[in-house]
Order: sequence, then C-alpha cells, then structure tokens
Amino acid sequence: MTRKLHVKSYGCQMNVYDSLRMADTLAPEGFTETSDVNDADLVVLNTCHIREKAAEKVYSELGRLRVMKDEAALTGRKVTIAVAGCVAQAEGAEIMRRAPTVDLVVGPQSYHRLPALLEQSARGERPVETEFPVDDKFNHLKDPTREATRARGLTAFLTIQEGCDKFCTFCVVPYTRGAEVSRPVAKIVEEAQRLADAGIREITLIGQNVNGYHGEGPDGRSFTLARLFERLAKIPGIDRLRYTTSHPRDVDDSLIAAHRDLPELMPQLHLPVQSGSDRILDAMNRNHTRDDYLRIVERMRKAQPKLALTSDFIVGFPGESDEDFRDTMRLIDEIGFCGSYSFKYSPRPGTPAAEMDDQIPENVKTERLLELQTLVDGQLTAFNRGCIGQTLEVLFEKPGRFPGQIAGKSPWLQPVQVDAPPSLIGTVTKVTITGTGTFSLFGKLSQNPETMPRETKLAALEA
Ligand code: 5AD
Ligand code: SF4
Repeated sequence: MTRKLHVKSYGCQMNVYDSLRMADTLAPEGFTETSDVNDADLVVLNTCHIREKAAEKVYSELGRLRVMKDEAALTGRKVTIAVAGCVAQAEGAEIMRRAPTVDLVVGPQSYHRLPALLEQSARGERPVETEFPVDDKFNHLKDPTREATRARGLTAFLTIQEGCDKFCTFCVVPYTRGAEVSRPVAKIVEEAQRLADAGIREITLIGQNVNGYHGEGPDGRSFTLARLFERLAKIPGIDRLRYTTSHPRDVDDSLIAAHRDLPELMPQLHLPVQSGSDRILDAMNRNHTRDDYLRIVERMRKAQPKLALTSDFIVGFPGESDEDFRDTMRLIDEIGFCGSYSFKYSPRPGTPAAEMDDQIPENVKTERLLELQTLVDGQLTAFNRGCIGQTLEVLFEKPGRFPGQIAGKSPWLQPVQVDAPPSLIGTVTKVTITGTGTFSLFGKLSQNPETMPRETKLAALEA
C-alpha cells in the first residue's frame, strides 16, 4: 500500500538533512513524498526550538493541521500527525497535552524508530520517543536510493557531527541535541561517495559545531575537519566542499591551511560571533574575545584572500548596553560581512541567560536589530556590486527564471542567472558577472559552450 508523506522542516540545515533521512527511512514502508500537505497521509513537522517564535510556529501549524485532519476524517481518510525535531525533544509530553491532534512525538536521535512508532500509533497509542538512545541513529537510518538523491538536485548536506558541549548561556542546543558526537570518517566517506556516484557535485558538511569535528579515522586516531576535507576532496566528482556552523574557539591552524591549500573548499566562512562586546561575550560564555575573533578573520583572509564572511548576531542579550551594541556595530564595520543571521535575544527556559537580571525591553531589541541588519544589508549589496566585471565559477543547478536561462551558484553561494543551454546544468562553468538584482547576480558565459570539455559528472548524470 502506498501512502503519502509530507515533511515540513523548520530551523537549521540539520533539520533539512534529518527531514530527508526521515523520508528515506519511511520509503521502504511504502511512503512517497508529496509537497502538498492536504494530500498527505502522514505529516511530520520537523521543529526548531532555538527561539521562542520558532516553537510557537509549531503550535499554530498544529492548529491548521487539526482542521485538515478532521476534514479528512469526515471522508474516511486517516491522517497521522507526527512532531519531530527539537521542540519534540524539549517538550514532548507538553505537545501531547496541548495538541490532542498529534499522534506521535519523536526526538532527533530516534528517527530510525519512526516505522515502529507508526505501528504503535496505528494500534491507538500516542508514543513519545525522546530518550537519547545509546546506539548511533545513523547506523539505523535508511540510505536514499540513487534516484531519490538525484531528484534532490546537485548539492547535498551531510551531517558529520551533532550536539554541542559549549553551553553558551542563551542556547538550548546542548539540552535538546545533547552532547557532541562526531561520526566516524569511514561512514562520512561512504555517504559522500554515494552522493558523488548519484551525481552530487557539492557537499556541505553540517553540524552544530562542525569545526569541533573529531571523528575516528581509519587508523583509530581522530581526524580534524581539515583532514576530513582533504579526504573528501579526493572523491572524483566532488568539486565543491562547504561547512557550517563553526565556532571561533575551534578554528585551528589546519582549518586555516585548508582554506589556503584545498581548491575544493569554497572561499566562504560562516563564523558566528554573536556580539562584538567582550563583556557580553563573557556573559554569553563564548570563551573568546572580540580580539580573538578579529585575529582569526585576519589569518583566514591571509590564507584565502577571496574569503567571504557571514555571521550570527544576537542583539538585546541581558545587560547589553548601548555601548556594548556600538561595539558590535564597530566590529561589523571593521570586518565587512556579506550576510548574517541576526536575532533579538529570546529567553529560553532552562538556560542561564533566561534567569539573568537586566533583560532588555522589546522595543530596544527591535531598534538594534533593524540598525544591525541595515548595516549588514549594505555590506552585502556592496559585496554583490563588487562582483560585477569579475569572472566566477558557477555550478549550474537548474533551469533559470526565464526561458533560455539557467541558474547556479557562485563560490559564495550567490544565485547566478545566465543565458545558456540546459546542457550546462551539472557543470562548473566560468561566468562573467554583468549585473545584480535583489538576490541574484546576472552574467554571461565567458567560454563558448561548444568548446568546453565534456565534464565527467555530466556523463554520470546521463548514465
Ligand atoms: N535567542 C536569540 N538567538 C539565539 N540563537 C541561539 N539561541 C538564541 C536565543 N536564545 C541564535 C544564535 C545562534 C543561531 C543558530 O541562533 O545566533 O548562532
Ligand atoms: Fe548553542 Fe553555543 Fe553550542 Fe552554538 S556553540 S549550539 S550557540 S551552545
């Protein structure tokens, strides 16, 4: 019997990856994916708990799903609703109490248990599975088929570590995702090889603290992230490697050298700083100073002059004075970013910062956020304009917005639209940038497609 599955992902890339792995694990159970939630027999909400707003979104979505489920029931169709992800982990029992429409709750470490949980649900139980099981979920999750991988495009995420031991005072991750665990090198290489065989050309390694990676190598000793990149760069067909999210404390010499030495490692670094004030960094338990951060950036840029930087910022952390905020703005000015994820501080129950005195009023947070985002947006616009006239390598991924166009990504992840034949989809091709739009760059091919060598990967795609 085939049934339809709709997975809705909130939050970070880890969730996007997990959502795909849930779909892979449910495929042998007869579930095919649908993008239309109204069509689904099983709806999984893969939730995010990082800020209060993110968690509240789940409850409003559950309100909508309740109506849909009740309407389906009138026509004799049973819809099962599962809540997964970090809200599930943090407040599983509370979800069951607040939302009677939910049939099962499953935490991020237990997705391989989904088929068994669905059986329990079919028997009329309402299982809540949020224990951290000892066994590695990755050993139990099903791999995608080659076709499923291909259908997802030419780029892929690959989780190499999960969890966090850093305990920044604002953050729920160490409580929801648990202690840091790095996957063994052999497993990651196997997964990357499978992706390459299916035609994937770019892999982004992901983890809450990705550069804290210390997985076991084939010789029993641990690998750094840089060593892992060296190994993955050897896989034929993998042209581009990226990683996210890093912590300044874990940037070591080998990672800086990898940015200098490995052409596959894209010149891009997402390195959250959160604040430019030493006083606030200390209260956040970030374990580095503003100066440490500046020095890392300086060394990285020396190793890779083309490096583009993005960061995360929190404004309105408890006790943040105007002067502290000015320090953050000065840091942004000094470094020059080409994008950020910036947030108003959101108190999370159970974290130390939520208990701190001197919480900042909402209107102050709003003003500071707007000012910060305006500054970074200006830097991004300048960065994009600076690309005009440059020749960049673009990985073409899909048909473009208008007929005759194809679309791809620059080394810095900017979307690029070019008039070019669809046969170039799947290739990395040189493009001269001619203009910028709100989000995209526009360009023209700097080589005649007729004279290009036939790329090995294109052949693989057509195999
Ligand atoms: N409030 C606001 N932003 C937060 N982040 C994490 N916890 C909070 C919080 N309580 C932000 C940080 C982190 C990103 C993933 O989310 O900037 O780097
Ligand atoms: Fe949260 Fe800090 Fe760990 Fe990042 S490093 S996941 S912000 S505790």
